[in-house]
Amino acid sequence: MPEKILIVDDDIDSLKLIGLMLQRHGYEIIAANAGNQALSKAISDPPDLIILDIMMPDMDGYEVCRRLRANADTRSIPIIMFTAKTLVDDKVAGFEAGADDYLTKPTHPAELASRVKAILARSAGQRRAEVGKGMTIGVIGAKGGVGTTTIALNLAAGLFIAGENALAADFRLGSGSMGLSLGFENATGMANILTKPAGEIRPSTIESEISTHPSGLRTLLSSSRPKEAQVRYPIESAVAVISSLRTLSKQSVFDLGYGYDDIVSRLQREMDRLIVVVEPYDVTLKMARRLLQELEISGNDDSRIHLVVVNRSQSNIQTPWNEVEHMLGKELRAIISAAPEVAYQAARAASPIVMYQPNHIVSNQLIKLAEDMSVTVRTTAGGHMAP
Ligand SMILES: Nc1ncnc2c1ncn2[C@@H]1O[C@H](COP(=O)(O)OP(=O)(O)OP(=O)(O)O)[C@@H](O)[C@H]1O
Ligand SMILES: [Mg+2]
Repeated sequence: MPEKILIVDDDIDSLKLIGLMLQRHGYEIIAANAGNQALSKAISDPPDLIILDIMMPDMDGYEVCRRLRANADTRSIPIIMFTAKTLVDDKVAGFEAGADDYLTKPTHPAELASRVKAILARSAGQRRAEVGKGMTIGVIGAKGGVGTTTIALNLAAGLFIAGENALAADFRLGSGSMGLSLGFENATGMANILTKPAGEIRPSTIESEISTHPSGLRTLLSSSRPKEAQVRYPIESAVAVISSLRTLSKQSVFDLGYGYDDIVSRLQREMDRLIVVVEPYDVTLKMARRLLQELEISGNDDSRIHLVVVNRSQSNIQTPWNEVEHMLGKELRAIISAAPEVAYQAARAASPIVMYQPNHIVSNQLIKLAEDMSVTVRTTAGGHMAP
C-alpha cells in the first residue's frame, strides 16, 4: 500500500504542484486547504505524513501542529512544515510547535522528495520499535473512596479475561487496598522496586516483584502498612517502572489514587489513557471539574481523558448523568451501577468483581469499559500497533 501524505496549504496552485510531484514518487495524496479541514482529515483518514503550510487564514500552521500533537490520535504523525517564511525564528517556532522537519519555499522537487522519504523511513523505524510496547492506563479518583481502585483492578481483570496480557499496578504506597482485595496481605512489590535507583529498574528486576493472583492476573502491589506511605523515592524510578511494565504487559492499569501531588502530576503524563472516576454528588463533581482543568492545563488532550461515574449507593437522590456531563463539560465513558452486595462478596472472595460474577450487570459494565479502553488504545496508535 502506498504511504499516504496529507498536504495542507491555502494556496491551491501550491497544493496541486506538491501533490503531483509526490504522486509521481508513488505516494497517495490527500489535501486540505485550511487548518480546520486539515485537523478533521488527519483524524478521519490518518496519513503517514503531513506537509503543512504556515500562513493560512483560518488557523496558522503552528496552531494546526500544536493541535495535532495534543490529540492522542494524531500525536505521532510526522509533520514537515513547508513555508515561504525563512527566518530562523519561524523555524524555531515550527519545531516548538512540534514539527519534525522544516522546508522553505521554493524547494527543489528532489529535495522535497528526499526529505519526505527520510522522515517516512524514520517514523517507520520508530513504529517497528514500538511494536510490542504495551499501553498504560491510569485511573485517578476525583476524591477519595469513589471507587478508583475497584475500576483499576476490574479494568485490568476485564482485559485479562478478554485474553489480553494485562497487569494491575498500585502506586498507593501504604494504602494498598488493591492487594487486600486480591488476598495479598502484605505485598510490597511496588515499594521494593521504587526504592531502587532508576538505572537498576528493568523488566527483569520488576518480574520478581510481581504478585500473581490465582486467576493468573499479574499485579504489582503496594502494602496497606501505613508506614509504607513514608517511603520516599525518586520520580525517575517511578517513570522507569512504568516504561519497564510496557515491555512486560500489553496493558498496564495503574491505580493512581486521588489527590494531585507531585508524583501523580508527573506520572499522569506517562499514561496513554487516563480515567477520572467520579460519583454523582456535587462536592465530588466540583472536585472533578478542578481535576479535569488541571489535567488539561498540563497538556492533556480531551481525547486522552475518560470519565467514569460509579454509583456506590442505590439512591435516587443523586445527580442525573446528563447533569454530570453538563457540569463537567465532557461525555461519560461509563456509568457503573450500584452493586454493594457483589462488591462486598467479591472482596471477601479475594477476587475482582468481573471474575467473581462475570454475568452481573456491573461486570458487564466493567468489561465493556475494558473493551472500550483497549479499542481506543489500539486506534490511538493510529493503527500502527501490532494487533
Ligand atoms: N459499583 C459499586 N457499588 C457499590 N459499592 C462499590 C462499587 N464499586 C466499589 N464499591 C465499594 O466502594 C468502596 C470503595 O471502593 P474503592 O476502594 O475502589 O475506592 P477508592 O476510590 O479506591 O478508595 P480510596 O480513596 O480509599 O483508595 C469499596 O468497599 C468497594 O467495594
Ligand atoms: Mg483506592
